[in-house]
Amino acid sequence: MTRALTLVLLVACSPAEEETPVALPTIWGVETLADEDPAEDVVEVSLTAIQDRTYIDGVASPMWSYNYLVPGPLIQARVGDTVRVNLTNELAEPTTVHWHGLRIDNAMDGVPAVQDPVQPGGTFTYEFVVPDSGTFWYHPHVRGHEQVERGLQGSMVIHEEDVLPYDVERYFVLDDILLDGSNQVMGGFTPVGGMTAMHGRLGNTLMFNGKFDPLEDEVRSGTRERWRIVNTSNARTLSIDVADARWQVIAIDGNLLPAPMAGEGPIRLEVGRRFDLEVLPVDGAELQVVVPTTDGEAAYPAFQGTLVDEGEPPEFLFTQGPAAPVMEEVQQELTVTLDATSGPNGVEFTINGLHYGEGDAIPVAANTPTRIIIEETTGLEHPFHLHGQFFQLVSREVGGPFMPGSLDTLLVDPGERVELYTDFSNPGRWMAHCHILEHAETGMMTEFDVQ
Ligand code: C2O
Ligand code: CU
Repeated sequence: MTRALTLVLLVACSPAEEETPVALPTIWGVETLADEDPAEDVVEVSLTAIQDRTYIDGVASPMWSYNYLVPGPLIQARVGDTVRVNLTNELAEPTTVHWHGLRIDNAMDGVPAVQDPVQPGGTFTYEFVVPDSGTFWYHPHVRGHEQVERGLQGSMVIHEEDVLPYDVERYFVLDDILLDGSNQVMGGFTPVGGMTAMHGRLGNTLMFNGKFDPLEDEVRSGTRERWRIVNTSNARTLSIDVADARWQVIAIDGNLLPAPMAGEGPIRLEVGRRFDLEVLPVDGAELQVVVPTTDGEAAYPAFQGTLVDEGEPPEFLFTQGPAAPVMEEVQQELTVTLDATSGPNGVEFTINGLHYGEGDAIPVAANTPTRIIIEETTGLEHPFHLHGQFFQLVSREVGGPFMPGSLDTLLVDPGERVELYTDFSNPGRWMAHCHILEHAETGMMTEFDVQ
């Protein structure tokens, strides 16, 4: 009787099962938000921005958080899905959520230019279709220098239609935080002045997925892993390296590369940048964060994999990605000058001589091959970030690494002139700014009006 019933159920289920796409992988390292919408192509999640009741690693804080988690929870979906995020603001100040790197509908970009910030006690529903797969992240775009530093930053993975079959996927949020002697986030966010204005808020403590000690797990020598890595620091340029494993870079800023980049570290992971690595454990697999010191550089382990020997490492899975978009003959040219002025609290950063809000948005023709020239004039480095579009690096001068493929962030070195290419395929009012959040806060942001 029981057996017959089972058979009937199996038969009844099988047609539906055939249509169910491969389940999304479980991603190690961050907590994943459960999908509240049963529809297959809709992912609905809820985020609450909370002030004061979150503690990281047992000691530091109190932090601000999404859903009591630092870093905030992972949102994952499949390319083409509709993502709906119900935000509740329990902070004592306004906030928004910006989806860093996603080329979505402009109205959902989560910046004050397109939405009134969500007031304390208020709610807002973000809903958009995700056009690109890749590794992304999200964070507030109101007083980001304080809200992000205190912990409001979450991860986002949009999977390829045919999920690349890695045995293990891990997400690493690398951050540096400035703590005082009793493990409290240092105050003094407003006004942004002095050295904090000059170099951004450099931390004194590295955090790996919200932990101060290296993360640990077993790794298996016969397997292939995909590591998704983001630098969410307010200002600190990090470099990463991998030890005890064979590795290669397969994606930058979410986009799979036309061909993998050989794993020769350290590689520069500027603020906002994402790298996807393919890692084949050999003697283990260690992710290192490399930072400059007074006498060279120091490598801190962020993740230490203990080897379980299951045989020879396989060949790399990723050998080729989609071709880079073809660069067509340029029909418009924009110059973005990164400059500075002085104000009552010290240096203030500007773009084309203007603080954010002082000028009109820069008019740009949509779907037009465009050269963007960035000229750094302050003698400092600035991670330039463009919303809503990808760009390609055409040339650079100072010797920072060449980054292939489609990008949304690029560190411009002191005094450098960089040439970028984009076709502005996504219309709307899109921000461009320095991702050193203190530089952005003092004025180094502008808008492109893409029509
Ligand atoms: Cu990561 Cu304007 O943002
Ligand atoms: Cu800057």
